[in-house]
Amino acid sequence: MIKPEYLRRLGPERTTNHPCINCLLETEERIRADDFDSVGTGDKIWYKTYKAEIEELERVLRAYTPKRIIEVGSGSGRVIRTVLDVLPDVNIVGTEKNERTFQFVKNRFSGDGRLRVVQTDISDYLSNGGNYDMAVCLMNTFGNINDPEVFRKIVNHADYFVFSLYNRQFDEQRRTMYEARGHTNFSFDGTQYCFQDDWIKGLVSRSYTAEEIKELVRKSGAKLIELRPIELLYFAVARKK
Ligand SMILES: C[S@@+](CC[C@H](N)C(=O)[O-])C[C@H]1O[C@@H](n2cnc3c(N)ncnc32)[C@H](O)[C@@H]1O
Repeated sequence: MIKPEYLRRLGPERTTNHPCINCLLETEERIRADDFDSVGTGDKIWYKTYKAEIEELERVLRAYTPKRIIEVGSGSGRVIRTVLDVLPDVNIVGTEKNERTFQFVKNRFSGDGRLRVVQTDISDYLSNGGNYDMAVCLMNTFGNINDPEVFRKIVNHADYFVFSLYNRQFDEQRRTMYEARGHTNFSFDGTQYCFQDDWIKGLVSRSYTAEEIKELVRKSGAKLIELRPIELLYFAVARKK
């Protein structure tokens, strides 16, 4: 891995041995500081996109005031931290399938009785039941999962499903963004980026058109109540019928 610019900003004392955790932590920090005028083009697109996404999340949390939330793919805890800030009385289950990332996020929030983080695949976890006011799946995580059956499962266990997916229109810009975030070994096959970098070998990240999102939601049996293009993403809210 070529050392990306963002690692210098994160600093050696906070750099972990997992590039995904470093990237997510630094993103959270930079967005909160609202300080990215001086960064390169790829990083700027990245921060602007995820700042806009987190602002949309804050808006829907205030609008729907869910009491029980499940997050699909918690990563380093960027979304969990926002949820706890906006809704201090909330109860959250964070799911994370990657062992190292799970250990990180579990330790980060250890002792906080408002949340529980589980190392699991979201699909397996929901097979054991559970009902939530809201499910949240941001940063195009469903674009990595890309399975309509998993989408349907999430919808069936939550009154609202809040998710973001890459907008197909900006596939080319994503290349610049991925280079800035330290990826060197990836290709684009027309609908999805395929990563071969050693820490995420085999990961795919697909984009969607608005029509595809409408169809995905329709086939899941839910009703699409919001679909907003924001920077490189679509931000969407579906409601159980
Ligand atoms: C792009 S990161 C997003 C992290 C966080 N939600 C955020 O927005 O900052 C996606 C995370 O989801 C996890 N993940 C991917 N598929 C998953 C699945 N099927 N079940 C649980 N976690 C999953 C990955 O390991 C990764 O940590």
